Amino acid sequence: MPSTNQITLNAPLDMHLHLRDGEMLENIAKESARTFSAAIVMPNLVPPVSTKEEVTAYKTRIMNAVGSETFTPYMTLFFKPGYDKAFLASVKDDITAIKLYPAGITTNSEGGVSGFDVEELRPALDAMAELDIPLCVHGETNGFVMDREAEFVSIYEKLASAFPKLKIIMEHITTKASVDALDRFENLYATITIHHLLITLDDVAGGMLQPHLFCKPIAKRPEDREALLKMALAGHPKVMFGSDSAPHPKHAKEACGCAAGVFTAPIALQLLTELFEKNSAPLENLQAFVSGNAQKIYTIKVPQKTVILEKKAFHVPADYKGVVPMYAGETLAYSIKEVRHG
Ligand code: NCD
Ligand code: ZN
Repeated sequence: MPSTNQITLNAPLDMHLHLRDGEMLENIAKESARTFSAAIVMPNLVPPVSTKEEVTAYKTRIMNAVGSETFTPYMTLFFKPGYDKAFLASVKDDITAIKLYPAGITTNSEGGVSGFDVEELRPALDAMAELDIPLCVHGETNGFVMDREAEFVSIYEKLASAFPKLKIIMEHITTKASVDALDRFENLYATITIHHLLITLDDVAGGMLQPHLFCKPIAKRPEDREALLKMALAGHPKVMFGSDSAPHPKHAKEACGCAAGVFTAPIALQLLTELFEKNSAPLENLQAFVSGNAQKIYTIKVPQKTVILEKKAFHVPADYKGVVPMYAGETLAYSIKEVRHG
């Protein structure tokens, strides 16, 4: 992308988003809905979203919080091995994907999967493949924190070969090992966050500890970041933007026992634009990364929205209703100039 004063993005999509519930949902939903056309909404509430009633009621609460913005929340269920075909068929039209968490690996994932026994998972995953419901996976083992994702690659491979018709999305990948796995299996795809394209572990813990950059999976090594960056800047058809914007109240982040999650929803498009420009990547690759690839992978129709960004300093607020964003107090190169609906 050449240095430019203005760029236009069509129907930006956030394919991995935490909108929370209650007061937090009310406070932050518009920060995504203002600029994104749609988002895949994570189900890790307390308790997790795992019934048809819960998913439809949660969607209604999101729509209420979004107000008059043009925004579609693509709903997900929290994967349970006990889901059977009749249940999945009954809920298919209410959801866009199902999210699998290994038990206890991240925020509110206690009821997730342990063991990854293919035969135990077969009835649910066969039914999902048949019904064409994608499986989104938080791919981390409970090993050493820097190795968790790389160790999980063998589980991705096991699942991808046991269920060749199932679309498997490796969520928020952070390592070269995951990037390499994408090429080995036709049915593996991935989301990448903006923070993992920008930071390494050095930014989190190399100097004074930065709680607002602490998330799961933890940011990795420079060579991992380079591998992610290469995929995103190329607009590689198997990768999609998913912010993993995960708001926590300031007191839960600036605490002894800091909650994992980086809040990027209100600055994601500005940061992506700056990143693509800095690396001289073509605008069409950014368009593919933030929308086109996801539309093809998920075979979704998205609400029209046109976002115009201009090269004008944007001062990131210190907080959004008590949630501290990434780069709070700093200045970004691009601002949102205009959002057109339709
Ligand atoms: C997420 C959250 O807070 O819900 N946290 C995070 O660090 N990314 C959960 C998740 O996606 O792992
Ligand atoms: Zn997440």
